[in-house]
Amino acid sequence: MTDQRWRKRFLGNRPLAPETLMMGYGYDPFLSERSLKPPVFHTSTFVFRTAQDGKAFFELAYGLRQKRPNEEPGLIYSRINNPDLEMLEDRLAIWDEAEANLTFASGMAAISTSLWAHARPGSVIVHSGPVYGGTDFLLERILPQFGVTSIEFPAEGGTKAMEEAVDRARALGPIAALYLETPANPTNGLVDIGRARQIAEDLSAGAGKRPAVIVDNTFLGPLYQTPLAHGADLVVTSLTKYVGGHSDLIAGGCSGAAAALEPIRGMRTILGTMCDPNTGWLLMRSLETLKLRMTAAAEGAREVAEFLRGHPAVASVWYLGFLPERHPDRPIFERQCKGAGSTFGFEVKGGEAEAFAVLDKLEVIKLAVSLGGTETLASHPAAMTHSDVPPDEQMRLGITPALIRLSVGIENPDDLIADLDQALRG
Ligand SMILES: Cc1ncc(COP(=O)(O)O)c(C=O)c1O
Repeated sequence: MTDQRWRKRFLGNRPLAPETLMMGYGYDPFLSERSLKPPVFHTSTFVFRTAQDGKAFFELAYGLRQKRPNEEPGLIYSRINNPDLEMLEDRLAIWDEAEANLTFASGMAAISTSLWAHARPGSVIVHSGPVYGGTDFLLERILPQFGVTSIEFPAEGGTKAMEEAVDRARALGPIAALYLETPANPTNGLVDIGRARQIAEDLSAGAGKRPAVIVDNTFLGPLYQTPLAHGADLVVTSLTKYVGGHSDLIAGGCSGAAAALEPIRGMRTILGTMCDPNTGWLLMRSLETLKLRMTAAAEGAREVAEFLRGHPAVASVWYLGFLPERHPDRPIFERQCKGAGSTFGFEVKGGEAEAFAVLDKLEVIKLAVSLGGTETLASHPAAMTHSDVPPDEQMRLGITPALIRLSVGIENPDDLIADLDQALRG
């Protein structure tokens, strides 16, 4: 059993910062030959000391009884639990300011497993738009096949649009969840998480279960936004992006109160959507540099955004740090976000042909989807990540043919600016 001294979060009265805790939280070297770093537990199953132990571990894992004081869930089988994932989940919960976390094979596995755990045939999911293309496909094309409908409201429509969507949804059936992607991929539109929570509370005041407020925090999380602190019940993240941070793995996470995660944990065990130990180990390694990477990328992004804002071939720059004083998203940004992050869109003057010409001329910046890695990536949302979204819907959501999405990495920003400059010159 892990000695509790490896789970200390305070030095005397001083709370230790997440970046400090990432160097070893939850890992007891004396359980692993005194190895400084945790080993990768490449095993599918774990040996029980006695049959009685096996019985007790299963009783807990399958929720057949409550945990006894000081009892720790025993290791059973890597689809249910694994030491690398348990350490990783403890560390991710610290960043998300959550009681607990679950990790998954991908961001989509985290999102879909969380929604499966909440939705029932006949129920409705109210969600902001745009959402990541895969999430859109899940909500619009897959869940309806199982009797779960969805109602979308545009992120830029503000509270009024969210309230109207909830009214429309109520007429269709019980609302299972309010699902928000904020900032939205790729527009950086913001949704007020606190207001969504209030709406969810109001819905349960009449009758029935309170819908879960679920926030996709991939764009700013976990450094620049902590949705649980603003009223979300669950925060889902594609760990493939900033947390993994090196564009070399695919994984997802879901954080929240332990009780809120229980049905999702059960669903994960049966669907088998968990993260694997090797990826879990890589993610722990990445967490050690998370703050450094996200901070450097955010600083570089500001410089790149400043450059683009002044460029004659650029029509608009959707960088959160440029939200005008009177923009309706500005108060949400100030209340909810701790920084502008490093993924944003910009529109070139013209349309798809002009955007493609810029993308094809880039030399330092790679033409690839995804975001949050050490290297800068550029992509064309309308033709790539959001190509599943019908064209009229794309236009309504602001995903225009002239839009390029940039995920700024940690290269020297001057090199990135020089590359964009030569590409924009045509
Ligand atoms: C905002 C957002 N959510 C979820 C996902 C899905 O994550 P994954 O590719 O890890 O399944 C992505 C992927 O690009 C994303 O951008």
